[in-house]
Amino acid sequence: MKKPEVYNFDSKPDLRGNLTFLEELKDVPFEVKRVYWLYALPEQQVRGDHAHKTGEQVIIAVQGKIEVLLESQKGELFNCTLDKPDKGLYIPPLWWGKMIFSKNALMIGLASDEYNEDDYIRSRKDFR
Ligand code: TYD
Repeated sequence: MKKPEVYNFDSKPDLRGNLTFLEELKDVPFEVKRVYWLYALPEQQVRGDHAHKTGEQVIIAVQGKIEVLLESQKGELFNCTLDKPDKGLYIPPLWWGKMIFSKNALMIGLASDEYNEDDYIRSRKDFR
């Protein structure tokens, strides 16, 4: 059973600013098939509230702050705050995820699969 994990990506800060980067299969544990981003959300907006059957994700708050609450089918909890652009969270399959966004938060998501609604579990009852 894969576990959630917080990643600290390499950065190159210099006088011109900061640059952070990641590579598939090296800094994230899968081939990146899809990238999506969430922005212009109302403050304290809750997103997610679902799990994926097989899809893996890494999410990054490139701006602002995102509180993430994860729960496994056994009821294990993993909570974290993404508040730095060089920090990412690995979300394994079969972990229910809920994200709460600060004002101006900008989230980038990297996914191991192409979008497929059949990979979503959207019912808490089905999940547990
Ligand atoms: P959803 O994953 O439910 O949003 P969130 O978890 O952030 O609350 O996606 C919202 C809608 O966008 C839903 O109709 C599916 C669609 N969607 C895509 O078409 N492609 C994608 O890559 C993603 C992430 C969502």
